[in-house]
Amino acid sequence: MGAGQKVAVFGAYGHTGRFVVTELRERGHVPLLLGRDLDKLLAMAREGLEVRQASVDDPASLDRALAGAAAVVNCAGPFAATAGPVVEAALRAGIPYVDVAAEIEANVDTFAHFAEPARARGGVVVPAMAFYGGLGDLLVTTAMGDWTAADEAHVAYGLSSWHPTAGTVASGVVSGQRRAGRRVRHTGGRLRYHDDALPTLEWRFPAPLGPQRVIGEFTMADVVTVPSHLAVPEVRTYMTANAAADLSAPNAPSPTAVDDRGRSAQTFVVDVLVRSGGAERRLSASGQDIYAISAPLAVEAVERVLSGRVRATGVVSAGAAFDAPDFLRALSPHLSLHIPAGAV
Ligand SMILES: NC(=O)c1ccc[n+]([C@@H]2O[C@H](COP(=O)([O-])OP(=O)(O)OC[C@H]3O[C@@H](n4cnc5c(N)ncnc54)[C@H](OP(=O)(O)O)[C@@H]3O)[C@@H](O)[C@H]2O)c1
Repeated sequence: MGAGQKVAVFGAYGHTGRFVVTELRERGHVPLLLGRDLDKLLAMAREGLEVRQASVDDPASLDRALAGAAAVVNCAGPFAATAGPVVEAALRAGIPYVDVAAEIEANVDTFAHFAEPARARGGVVVPAMAFYGGLGDLLVTTAMGDWTAADEAHVAYGLSSWHPTAGTVASGVVSGQRRAGRRVRHTGGRLRYHDDALPTLEWRFPAPLGPQRVIGEFTMADVVTVPSHLAVPEVRTYMTANAAADLSAPNAPSPTAVDDRGRSAQTFVVDVLVRSGGAERRLSASGQDIYAISAPLAVEAVERVLSGRVRATGVVSAGAAFDAPDFLRALSPHLSLHIPAGAV
């Protein structure tokens, strides 16, 4: 991807969109600020960036907004409302689409509705190219190594806290409504809805985090991305109990910036374990601020698609689209990898 290419960011003035805009600028690209609220766009335009108002209810406005863009990153959630119209506009424009959706049903819809149209046009659509859904998929894919199938994949999220943005809360509400208050898990090779209570158990994260209480089957977007390309019938995700409690607390505080990059003090460890027969492989990554890390994940994906470093067309998850170990290495300024001796 040549520097100076225009990359549209839909939802540019949201918390995650701002991180993506900054990441694009730091890498020498030209972000186009897209969103539905002109006043919020113009407030950002003071930074000297081009703004284009567009609404998901108005396909022509999306077409105008994407004119001249080399790619689009959709950061506007709930994605149940935005993913479909923006994917359609990207396909009409003939440009790659990347989103940061962490809504299981919306991610499923993207695969279900757009796999064929995207492949037929030679387009690339990468949903969940962010902390949830993207990073776990890259880690699982890397941990699998030469395995093409495994019995189980476990993705444990060790968050020090979770102060959610308004977009995260709204997306959780929409997902909850879509599943009529039920829970979802990936077992026996497919998503299944259930009403079972979620177990609390201990997960042994690598040092220095160590053993933590986690909520089992705290199901995240990895249950869509991982099985989209790997033959793993059991995919489970876990969340540190304190972070899960933060998320569900009434009036949960929003993230507060503590450094000049706008990151919060939140730290994370994502620990993955895959099992096949009697063998286990393990890999983890750590860093700061789950919203901030989503920007280099999404922008690295855009760069790789635009420079031809993508393995497939159609709707593809991070692990299917990219050379996963190489992608993770490229994130080393933002992410520390922990590979247990002899583990992978
Ligand atoms: N997968 C991951 O790990 C990950 C990481 C980061 C974020 N996310 C997801 O990304 C989304 C945004 O998060 P955030 O932290 O940026 O939240 P945020 O700060 O609340 O921003 C939400 C953004 O979405 C826009 N938006 C919402 N509904 C829209 C619609 N129907 N049409 C156009 N724009 C719309 C908002 O615009 P208005 O102000 O005009 O409403 C705003 O720009 C959430 O769904 C969140 O779960 C996922």
